[in-house]
Amino acid sequence: MDQEQFIRGFRESSPYIHRFRGQTFVISLEDEALSDGTITSIASDVALLRSLGIGVILVFGASSRIKEMLEKNKLSLDQNSSGPIVPEGILRIIREAVGSVRFEIESALSRGGDNSSMSGAQLKVVSGNYVIAQPVGVIDGVDHFLAGNPRHIRAEFIKSHIAAGEIVLISSLGVSLSGELFFLDARDVAQKVAEEVGAQKLLFLMDEEAISERKGEEARELTTREAQTILGTSSLSENQKEHLLRAIDTVSAGVDRVHLVNRLQDGALLLELFTRDGCGTLISSDPFESISSATLDDIPGILEMIRPLEASGILKGRSRETIETDISRFSVTRRDRNIIGCGALYPFPDEKMGEIACLAVHPDYRRCGRAGNLLSWFEKKAREEGMKTIFVLSTQTGHWFSERGFTPCLLEELPPSRRESYNHQRKSLILKKNL
Ligand SMILES: CC(C)(COP(=O)(O)OP(=O)(O)OC[C@H]1O[C@@H](n2cnc3c(N)ncnc32)[C@H](O)[C@@H]1OP(=O)(O)O)[C@@H](O)C(=O)NCCC(=O)NCCS
Repeated sequence: MDQEQFIRGFRESSPYIHRFRGQTFVISLEDEALSDGTITSIASDVALLRSLGIGVILVFGASSRIKEMLEKNKLSLDQNSSGPIVPEGILRIIREAVGSVRFEIESALSRGGDNSSMSGAQLKVVSGNYVIAQPVGVIDGVDHFLAGNPRHIRAEFIKSHIAAGEIVLISSLGVSLSGELFFLDARDVAQKVAEEVGAQKLLFLMDEEAISERKGEEARELTTREAQTILGTSSLSENQKEHLLRAIDTVSAGVDRVHLVNRLQDGALLLELFTRDGCGTLISSDPFESISSATLDDIPGILEMIRPLEASGILKGRSRETIETDISRFSVTRRDRNIIGCGALYPFPDEKMGEIACLAVHPDYRRCGRAGNLLSWFEKKAREEGMKTIFVLSTQTGHWFSERGFTPCLLEELPPSRRESYNHQRKSLILKKNL
Protein backbone atom coordinates (compact mmCIF):
# COMPACT_ATOMS: atom_id res chain seq x y z
CA MET A 1 0.00 0.00 0.00
CA ASP A 2 1.47 3.37 -0.92
CA GLN A 3 1.42 6.34 1.44
CA GLU A 4 -1.41 8.05 -0.40
CA GLN A 5 -3.65 4.97 -0.15
CA PHE A 6 -2.86 4.63 3.53
CA ILE A 7 -3.73 8.25 4.26
CA ARG A 8 -6.92 8.09 2.19
CA GLY A 9 -7.99 4.85 3.91
CA PHE A 10 -7.20 6.13 7.38
CA ARG A 11 -9.14 9.35 6.74
CA GLU A 12 -12.10 7.44 5.29
CA SER A 13 -12.30 5.45 8.51
CA SER A 14 -12.28 8.45 10.86
CA PRO A 15 -16.06 9.21 10.81
CA TYR A 16 -16.69 5.59 11.80
CA ILE A 17 -14.10 5.75 14.57
CA HIS A 18 -15.85 8.80 16.06
CA ARG A 19 -19.32 7.31 15.66
CA PHE A 20 -18.52 3.91 17.18
CA ARG A 21 -16.71 5.15 20.29
CA GLY A 22 -18.80 4.16 23.32
CA GLN A 23 -20.98 1.75 21.32
CA THR A 24 -21.26 -1.98 22.04
CA PHE A 25 -20.90 -4.69 19.41
CA VAL A 26 -21.74 -8.37 19.83
CA ILE A 27 -19.63 -10.70 17.68
CA SER A 28 -20.85 -14.23 17.10
CA LEU A 29 -18.28 -16.79 15.96
CA GLU A 30 -17.90 -20.55 15.70
CA ASP A 31 -14.89 -22.53 16.87
CA GLU A 32 -13.73 -23.36 13.32
CA ALA A 33 -11.86 -20.07 13.67
CA LEU A 34 -9.54 -21.94 16.07
CA SER A 35 -8.85 -24.92 13.84
CA ASP A 36 -8.19 -22.87 10.69
CA GLY A 37 -6.14 -20.21 12.54
CA THR A 38 -8.33 -17.22 11.61
CA ILE A 39 -8.76 -16.56 15.35
CA THR A 40 -5.37 -14.79 15.32
CA SER A 41 -6.50 -12.04 12.96
CA ILE A 42 -9.96 -11.88 14.58
CA ALA A 43 -8.31 -11.41 18.00
CA SER A 44 -6.11 -8.57 16.77
CA ASP A 45 -9.12 -6.88 15.13
CA VAL A 46 -11.05 -7.24 18.40
CA ALA A 47 -8.09 -5.65 20.23
CA LEU A 48 -8.20 -2.74 17.81
CA LEU A 49 -11.98 -2.28 18.32
CA ARG A 50 -11.43 -2.24 22.05
CA SER A 51 -8.64 0.33 21.78
CA LEU A 52 -11.03 2.58 19.80
CA GLY A 53 -13.43 2.61 22.74
CA ILE A 54 -15.88 0.03 21.38
CA GLY A 55 -17.39 -2.43 23.86
CA VAL A 56 -16.99 -6.00 22.59
CA ILE A 57 -18.98 -9.06 23.58
CA LEU A 58 -17.79 -12.29 21.94
CA VAL A 59 -20.29 -15.14 21.84
CA PHE A 60 -18.73 -18.39 20.70
CA GLY A 61 -20.09 -21.73 19.57
CA ALA A 62 -18.12 -24.95 19.91
CA SER A 63 -19.84 -27.21 17.36
CA SER A 64 -16.72 -28.68 15.75
CA ARG A 65 -14.97 -29.36 19.06
CA ILE A 66 -18.15 -30.96 20.43
CA LYS A 67 -18.45 -33.18 17.33
CA GLU A 68 -14.77 -34.14 17.52
CA MET A 69 -14.92 -35.05 21.21
CA LEU A 70 -18.18 -36.96 20.87
CA GLU A 71 -16.69 -38.95 17.98
CA LYS A 72 -13.67 -39.81 20.12
CA ASN A 73 -16.11 -41.21 22.67
CA LYS A 74 -18.06 -43.01 19.92
CA LEU A 75 -21.07 -40.82 20.58
CA SER A 76 -23.07 -38.38 18.51
CA LEU A 77 -25.47 -35.51 19.09
CA ASP A 78 -28.99 -36.46 17.96
CA GLN A 79 -31.08 -33.69 16.44
CA ASN A 80 -34.62 -33.26 15.24
CA SER A 81 -36.44 -30.23 13.84
CA SER A 82 -36.84 -28.81 17.36
CA GLY A 83 -33.09 -28.89 18.01
CA PRO A 84 -30.52 -31.17 19.67
CA ILE A 85 -31.33 -33.89 22.18
CA VAL A 86 -28.88 -33.61 25.06
CA PRO A 87 -28.92 -36.31 27.74
CA GLU A 88 -26.67 -35.97 30.79
CA GLY A 89 -23.78 -38.05 29.33
CA ILE A 90 -23.65 -35.89 26.18
CA LEU A 91 -23.75 -32.66 28.20
CA ARG A 92 -20.70 -33.82 30.16
CA ILE A 93 -18.69 -33.94 26.93
CA ILE A 94 -20.19 -30.68 25.64
CA ARG A 95 -19.07 -28.98 28.85
CA GLU A 96 -15.49 -30.16 28.33
CA ALA A 97 -15.54 -29.08 24.67
CA VAL A 98 -16.97 -25.63 25.44
CA GLY A 99 -14.47 -25.16 28.27
CA SER A 100 -11.48 -26.00 26.09
CA VAL A 101 -12.68 -23.66 23.32
CA ARG A 102 -13.19 -20.89 25.84
CA PHE A 103 -9.61 -21.13 27.13
CA GLU A 104 -8.19 -21.23 23.61
CA ILE A 105 -10.07 -18.05 22.68
CA GLU A 106 -8.93 -16.42 25.92
CA SER A 107 -5.36 -17.32 25.09
CA ALA A 108 -5.72 -15.93 21.52
CA LEU A 109 -7.01 -12.69 23.03
CA SER A 110 -4.09 -12.57 25.47
CA ARG A 111 -1.23 -12.84 22.97
CA GLY A 112 1.17 -9.92 22.97
CA GLY A 113 4.90 -9.58 22.47
CA ASP A 114 6.71 -6.89 20.54
CA ASN A 115 6.22 -8.36 17.09
CA SER A 116 2.56 -9.18 17.55
CA SER A 117 -0.19 -7.01 16.06
CA MET A 118 -1.69 -7.12 19.56
CA SER A 119 1.42 -5.75 21.18
CA GLY A 120 0.45 -3.42 24.03
CA ALA A 121 -3.24 -4.33 23.87
CA GLN A 122 -3.31 -6.19 27.23
CA LEU A 123 -6.92 -7.16 26.81
CA LYS A 124 -8.91 -8.02 29.89
CA VAL A 125 -11.26 -10.90 29.16
CA VAL A 126 -14.08 -11.98 31.50
CA SER A 127 -16.64 -14.81 31.46
CA GLY A 128 -19.48 -15.60 33.84
CA ASN A 129 -23.06 -16.69 34.40
CA TYR A 130 -24.62 -14.08 32.15
CA VAL A 131 -27.18 -16.30 30.42
CA ILE A 132 -30.26 -17.62 32.20
CA ALA A 133 -31.54 -20.66 30.34
CA GLN A 134 -34.77 -22.60 30.18
CA PRO A 135 -35.26 -26.15 28.92
CA VAL A 136 -36.55 -26.81 25.40
CA GLY A 137 -38.62 -29.53 27.13
CA VAL A 138 -40.67 -32.29 25.54
CA ILE A 139 -41.82 -31.49 22.01
CA ASP A 140 -44.09 -33.86 20.07
CA GLY A 141 -43.32 -36.55 22.61
CA VAL A 142 -39.53 -36.14 22.32
CA ASP A 143 -37.63 -35.07 25.43
CA HIS A 144 -34.74 -32.74 24.61
CA PHE A 145 -33.32 -33.21 28.13
CA LEU A 146 -30.56 -30.62 28.71
CA ALA A 147 -31.00 -28.66 25.49
CA GLY A 148 -32.18 -25.17 26.33
CA ASN A 149 -33.07 -21.71 25.05
CA PRO A 150 -31.77 -18.41 26.40
CA ARG A 151 -34.48 -17.04 28.66
CA HIS A 152 -32.94 -13.88 29.96
CA ILE A 153 -29.59 -12.09 29.92
CA ARG A 154 -28.06 -10.43 32.97
CA ALA A 155 -27.49 -7.28 30.96
CA GLU A 156 -26.41 -4.97 33.79
CA PHE A 157 -23.74 -7.46 34.81
CA ILE A 158 -22.38 -7.49 31.22
CA LYS A 159 -22.60 -3.70 30.91
CA SER A 160 -20.54 -3.23 34.06
CA HIS A 161 -17.70 -5.20 32.44
CA ILE A 162 -18.00 -3.22 29.21
CA ALA A 163 -17.85 0.03 31.19
CA ALA A 164 -14.66 -1.26 32.83
CA GLY A 165 -13.10 -1.81 29.38
CA GLU A 166 -13.29 -5.60 29.60
CA ILE A 167 -14.09 -7.97 26.75
CA VAL A 168 -16.97 -10.27 27.66
CA LEU A 169 -16.69 -13.84 26.44
CA ILE A 170 -19.94 -15.81 26.44
CA SER A 171 -20.38 -19.51 25.63
CA SER A 172 -23.27 -21.63 24.50
CA LEU A 173 -23.94 -22.91 28.03
CA GLY A 174 -26.56 -21.28 30.23
CA VAL A 175 -27.83 -21.90 33.74
CA SER A 176 -31.49 -22.21 34.73
CA LEU A 177 -32.89 -20.50 37.80
CA SER A 178 -32.70 -23.86 39.58
CA GLY A 179 -28.96 -24.05 38.82
CA GLU A 180 -29.08 -26.68 36.05
CA LEU A 181 -26.73 -26.31 33.09
CA PHE A 182 -28.22 -26.25 29.57
CA PHE A 183 -26.71 -26.44 26.10
CA LEU A 184 -27.87 -23.55 23.89
CA ASP A 185 -27.42 -22.49 20.30
CA ALA A 186 -24.62 -19.90 20.40
CA ARG A 187 -26.31 -17.78 17.73
CA ASP A 188 -29.53 -17.66 19.81
CA VAL A 189 -27.39 -16.48 22.71
CA ALA A 190 -25.69 -13.81 20.56
CA GLN A 191 -29.07 -12.48 19.39
CA LYS A 192 -30.51 -12.40 22.89
CA VAL A 193 -27.41 -10.71 24.30
CA ALA A 194 -27.46 -8.04 21.55
CA GLU A 195 -31.16 -7.36 22.20
CA GLU A 196 -31.02 -7.23 25.98
CA VAL A 197 -27.72 -5.37 26.33
CA GLY A 198 -28.94 -2.82 23.77
CA ALA A 199 -25.95 -3.38 21.46
CA GLN A 200 -25.73 -1.16 18.38
CA LYS A 201 -24.51 -4.04 16.22
CA LEU A 202 -24.50 -7.80 16.01
CA LEU A 203 -21.87 -9.26 13.70
CA PHE A 204 -22.15 -12.89 12.60
CA LEU A 205 -18.74 -14.17 11.48
CA MET A 206 -19.54 -16.80 8.85
CA ASP A 207 -17.39 -18.77 6.45
CA GLU A 208 -19.21 -17.62 3.36
CA GLU A 209 -19.19 -14.65 1.05
CA ALA A 210 -21.64 -11.77 1.40
CA ILE A 211 -25.24 -12.42 0.36
CA SER A 212 -25.44 -11.99 -3.38
CA GLU A 213 -28.03 -12.23 -6.10
CA ARG A 214 -29.68 -8.89 -5.83
CA LYS A 215 -29.71 -8.16 -9.55
CA GLY A 216 -26.63 -10.34 -9.80
CA GLU A 217 -24.65 -8.10 -7.47
CA GLU A 218 -23.45 -8.61 -3.94
CA ALA A 219 -25.97 -7.09 -1.57
CA ARG A 220 -23.94 -4.86 0.72
CA GLU A 221 -26.90 -3.25 2.46
CA LEU A 222 -30.39 -4.64 2.86
CA THR A 223 -33.42 -3.39 4.70
CA THR A 224 -35.34 -6.11 6.51
CA ARG A 225 -37.98 -5.84 3.79
CA GLU A 226 -35.40 -6.41 1.03
CA ALA A 227 -33.90 -9.27 3.01
CA GLN A 228 -37.37 -10.91 3.17
CA THR A 229 -37.70 -10.58 -0.59
CA ILE A 230 -34.27 -12.12 -1.18
CA LEU A 231 -35.18 -15.01 1.11
CA GLY A 232 -38.22 -15.75 -0.99
CA THR A 233 -36.60 -15.47 -4.39
CA SER A 234 -32.91 -16.18 -4.59
CA SER A 235 -30.86 -19.31 -4.26
CA LEU A 236 -28.98 -18.78 -1.03
CA SER A 237 -27.18 -21.53 0.87
CA GLU A 238 -29.01 -22.93 3.92
CA ASN A 239 -26.45 -21.22 6.13
CA GLN A 240 -26.98 -17.83 4.45
CA LYS A 241 -30.75 -18.23 4.71
CA GLU A 242 -30.55 -19.06 8.38
CA HIS A 243 -28.31 -16.08 9.13
CA LEU A 244 -30.46 -13.74 7.06
CA LEU A 245 -33.53 -14.88 9.02
CA ARG A 246 -31.67 -14.36 12.27
CA ALA A 247 -30.62 -10.88 11.10
CA ILE A 248 -34.24 -9.95 10.28
CA ASP A 249 -35.42 -11.20 13.70
CA THR A 250 -32.66 -9.34 15.53
CA VAL A 251 -33.32 -6.05 13.75
CA SER A 252 -37.06 -6.47 14.35
CA ALA A 253 -36.27 -6.96 18.04
CA GLY A 254 -34.64 -3.52 18.13
CA VAL A 255 -30.92 -3.99 17.35
CA ASP A 256 -30.02 -1.28 14.81
CA ARG A 257 -27.72 -3.24 12.55
CA VAL A 258 -26.72 -6.82 11.89
CA HIS A 259 -23.71 -7.62 9.71
CA LEU A 260 -22.97 -10.94 8.02
CA VAL A 261 -19.21 -11.06 7.58
CA ASN A 262 -16.94 -13.64 5.98
CA ARG A 263 -14.36 -14.42 8.66
CA LEU A 264 -12.09 -16.16 6.11
CA GLN A 265 -11.23 -12.78 4.62
CA ASP A 266 -8.31 -11.26 6.50
CA GLY A 267 -9.37 -8.06 8.33
CA ALA A 268 -13.03 -8.58 7.33
CA LEU A 269 -14.27 -7.05 10.59
CA LEU A 270 -12.28 -3.86 9.98
CA LEU A 271 -13.26 -3.63 6.33
CA GLU A 272 -16.92 -4.09 7.16
CA LEU A 273 -16.92 -1.56 9.98
CA PHE A 274 -14.52 1.14 8.83
CA THR A 275 -14.87 1.40 5.06
CA ARG A 276 -17.70 2.98 3.14
CA ASP A 277 -18.38 -0.07 0.97
CA GLY A 278 -17.83 -2.73 3.65
CA CYS A 279 -17.22 -6.33 2.62
CA GLY A 280 -20.16 -8.24 4.07
CA THR A 281 -23.91 -7.69 4.14
CA LEU A 282 -25.53 -5.16 6.46
CA ILE A 283 -29.17 -5.68 7.42
CA SER A 284 -31.01 -2.77 9.04
CA SER A 285 -34.58 -1.67 9.50
CA ASP A 286 -36.39 0.18 6.76
CA PRO A 287 -36.05 3.91 7.58
CA PHE A 288 -39.17 4.59 5.54
CA GLU A 289 -41.34 2.00 7.30
CA SER A 290 -43.29 4.62 9.23
CA ILE A 291 -43.52 7.14 6.35
CA SER A 292 -46.35 7.18 3.82
CA SER A 293 -48.16 9.51 1.45
CA ALA A 294 -50.75 11.62 3.29
CA THR A 295 -54.51 11.31 2.85
CA LEU A 296 -57.34 13.72 3.69
CA ASP A 297 -57.78 11.92 7.03
CA ASP A 298 -54.30 13.10 8.03
CA ILE A 299 -55.14 16.80 7.78
CA PRO A 300 -56.19 17.31 11.44
CA GLY A 301 -52.91 15.68 12.61
CA ILE A 302 -50.83 17.79 10.20
CA LEU A 303 -52.58 20.99 11.26
CA GLU A 304 -52.16 20.24 14.94
CA MET A 305 -48.42 19.88 14.43
CA ILE A 306 -47.73 22.83 12.15
CA ARG A 307 -50.02 25.51 13.66
CA PRO A 308 -47.64 26.38 16.55
CA LEU A 309 -44.72 26.51 14.08
CA GLU A 310 -46.69 28.85 11.83
CA ALA A 311 -47.60 31.01 14.81
CA SER A 312 -43.93 31.41 15.71
CA GLY A 313 -43.04 32.27 12.11
CA ILE A 314 -40.88 29.15 11.54
CA LEU A 315 -43.26 27.82 8.90
CA LYS A 316 -45.22 29.82 6.37
CA GLY A 317 -48.97 29.91 7.20
CA ARG A 318 -51.16 27.52 5.16
CA SER A 319 -54.94 27.42 5.24
CA ARG A 320 -56.77 24.13 5.72
CA GLU A 321 -58.09 24.51 2.16
CA THR A 322 -54.57 24.84 0.74
CA ILE A 323 -53.49 21.68 2.54
CA GLU A 324 -56.62 19.87 1.32
CA THR A 325 -55.85 20.86 -2.27
CA ASP A 326 -52.18 19.93 -1.94
CA ILE A 327 -52.63 16.77 0.14
CA SER A 328 -51.19 14.53 -2.59
CA ARG A 329 -47.91 16.45 -2.24
CA PHE A 330 -47.69 15.67 1.49
CA SER A 331 -46.15 12.68 3.25
CA VAL A 332 -46.37 11.90 6.94
CA THR A 333 -44.47 9.97 9.61
CA ARG A 334 -46.76 7.98 11.88
CA ARG A 335 -46.24 6.50 15.28
CA ASP A 336 -49.10 4.22 16.26
CA ARG A 337 -51.94 6.24 14.79
CA ASN A 338 -50.53 9.66 15.50
CA ILE A 339 -48.83 11.91 13.02
CA ILE A 340 -45.45 12.94 14.36
CA GLY A 341 -43.81 14.30 11.20
CA CYS A 342 -44.78 15.76 7.85
CA GLY A 343 -43.45 17.44 4.75
CA ALA A 344 -44.39 18.16 1.17
CA LEU A 345 -42.71 17.98 -2.24
CA TYR A 346 -43.99 20.43 -4.88
CA PRO A 347 -42.91 19.59 -8.43
CA PHE A 348 -41.83 22.06 -11.12
CA PRO A 349 -41.66 19.60 -14.03
CA ASP A 350 -40.51 22.07 -16.71
CA GLU A 351 -37.36 22.86 -14.74
CA LYS A 352 -37.01 19.29 -13.37
CA MET A 353 -37.02 20.86 -9.91
CA GLY A 354 -38.94 20.20 -6.71
CA GLU A 355 -39.53 22.22 -3.56
CA ILE A 356 -39.38 20.64 -0.11
CA ALA A 357 -41.83 22.48 2.13
CA CYS A 358 -43.54 22.25 5.49
CA LEU A 359 -40.98 19.78 6.88
CA ALA A 360 -41.67 19.37 10.57
CA VAL A 361 -41.34 16.82 13.35
CA HIS A 362 -43.34 16.93 16.59
CA PRO A 363 -41.16 18.36 19.41
CA ASP A 364 -41.51 15.15 21.47
CA TYR A 365 -39.97 13.07 18.70
CA ARG A 366 -37.07 15.18 17.46
CA ARG A 367 -33.36 14.36 17.27
CA CYS A 368 -33.85 10.72 16.30
CA GLY A 369 -33.24 11.18 12.57
CA ARG A 370 -36.94 11.38 11.64
CA ALA A 371 -36.65 14.60 9.63
CA GLY A 372 -33.54 13.16 7.97
CA ASN A 373 -35.56 10.09 6.97
CA LEU A 374 -38.39 12.28 5.64
CA LEU A 375 -35.86 14.25 3.59
CA SER A 376 -34.38 11.01 2.15
CA TRP A 377 -37.93 9.87 1.35
CA PHE A 378 -38.59 13.09 -0.59
CA GLU A 379 -35.23 12.86 -2.35
CA LYS A 380 -36.08 9.33 -3.49
CA LYS A 381 -39.53 10.48 -4.63
CA ALA A 382 -38.01 13.46 -6.47
CA ARG A 383 -35.55 11.21 -8.31
CA GLU A 384 -38.36 8.83 -9.26
CA GLU A 385 -40.32 11.78 -10.66
CA GLY A 386 -37.33 12.78 -12.82
CA MET A 387 -36.29 15.85 -10.80
CA LYS A 388 -32.65 16.88 -10.96
CA THR A 389 -32.67 19.50 -8.18
CA ILE A 390 -34.61 20.08 -5.01
CA PHE A 391 -34.75 23.38 -3.14
CA VAL A 392 -36.08 24.71 0.12
CA LEU A 393 -36.95 28.15 1.51
CA SER A 394 -36.10 28.46 5.17
CA THR A 395 -35.96 31.23 7.74
CA GLN A 396 -34.47 29.33 10.68
CA THR A 397 -33.42 25.89 9.53
CA GLY A 398 -30.83 26.71 6.88
CA HIS A 399 -28.03 24.99 8.79
CA TRP A 400 -29.98 21.79 9.13
CA PHE A 401 -30.31 21.62 5.35
CA SER A 402 -26.66 22.69 4.74
CA GLU A 403 -25.53 19.81 6.90
CA ARG A 404 -27.49 17.53 4.59
CA GLY A 405 -25.88 18.63 1.33
CA PHE A 406 -27.88 21.79 0.47
CA THR A 407 -26.06 24.93 -0.68
CA PRO A 408 -27.34 28.53 -0.79
CA CYS A 409 -28.68 29.68 -4.15
CA LEU A 410 -30.15 32.81 -5.70
CA LEU A 411 -33.81 33.63 -6.26
CA GLU A 412 -33.03 33.74 -10.01
CA GLU A 413 -32.21 30.03 -9.93
CA LEU A 414 -35.77 29.11 -8.90
CA PRO A 415 -38.48 28.25 -11.46
CA PRO A 416 -40.14 31.50 -12.73
CA SER A 417 -43.53 30.68 -11.16
CA ARG A 418 -41.90 30.13 -7.76
CA ARG A 419 -39.86 33.34 -8.10
CA GLU A 420 -43.12 35.28 -8.49
CA SER A 421 -44.66 33.86 -5.34
CA TYR A 422 -41.49 34.41 -3.23
CA ASN A 423 -42.46 36.41 -0.15
CA HIS A 424 -39.78 39.10 0.15
CA GLN A 425 -40.96 40.05 3.63
CA ARG A 426 -40.11 36.61 5.07
CA LYS A 427 -36.53 36.96 3.77
CA SER A 428 -36.21 33.21 3.56
CA LEU A 429 -32.84 31.74 2.71
CA ILE A 430 -32.98 29.65 -0.48
CA LEU A 431 -31.01 26.41 -0.57
CA LYS A 432 -30.74 23.79 -3.28
CA LYS A 433 -29.39 20.29 -3.66
CA ASN A 434 -28.58 18.51 -6.91
CA LEU A 435 -29.80 14.94 -6.89
C1 LIG B 1 -35.81 20.86 11.83
C2 LIG B 1 -36.62 19.64 12.25
C3 LIG B 1 -37.54 19.24 11.13
C4 LIG B 1 -35.61 18.51 12.59
O1 LIG B 1 -36.34 17.35 13.01
P1 LIG B 1 -35.60 16.10 13.69
O2 LIG B 1 -36.42 14.88 13.48
O3 LIG B 1 -35.22 16.45 15.08
O4 LIG B 1 -34.28 16.02 12.79
P2 LIG B 1 -33.13 14.96 12.79
O5 LIG B 1 -33.27 14.04 13.96
O6 LIG B 1 -33.04 14.36 11.44
O7 LIG B 1 -31.88 15.92 13.05
C5 LIG B 1 -31.67 16.43 14.32
C6 LIG B 1 -30.43 17.31 14.33
O8 LIG B 1 -30.74 18.55 13.68
C7 LIG B 1 -30.39 19.61 14.56
N1 LIG B 1 -31.30 20.75 14.32
C8 LIG B 1 -32.58 20.88 14.66
N2 LIG B 1 -33.04 22.08 14.28
C9 LIG B 1 -32.01 22.72 13.69
C10 LIG B 1 -31.86 24.01 13.11
N3 LIG B 1 -32.85 24.88 13.07
N4 LIG B 1 -30.67 24.32 12.58
C11 LIG B 1 -29.62 23.45 12.62
N5 LIG B 1 -29.71 22.21 13.18
C12 LIG B 1 -30.89 21.86 13.71
C13 LIG B 1 -30.58 19.02 15.94
O9 LIG B 1 -29.87 19.75 16.91
C14 LIG B 1 -30.03 17.63 15.75
O10 LIG B 1 -28.62 17.60 15.75
P3 LIG B 1 -27.78 16.95 16.98
O11 LIG B 1 -28.46 15.67 17.32
O12 LIG B 1 -26.41 16.83 16.41
O13 LIG B 1 -27.90 17.98 18.03
C15 LIG B 1 -37.43 19.91 13.54
O14 LIG B 1 -36.57 20.48 14.51
C16 LIG B 1 -38.62 20.82 13.33
O15 LIG B 1 -39.72 20.35 13.11
N6 LIG B 1 -38.36 22.13 13.41
C17 LIG B 1 -39.42 23.09 13.18
C18 LIG B 1 -39.86 23.16 11.74
C19 LIG B 1 -38.76 23.57 10.79
O16 LIG B 1 -37.87 24.36 11.09
N7 LIG B 1 -38.83 23.02 9.57
C20 LIG B 1 -37.97 23.35 8.48
C21 LIG B 1 -38.88 23.97 7.46
S1 LIG B 1 -38.01 24.72 6.22
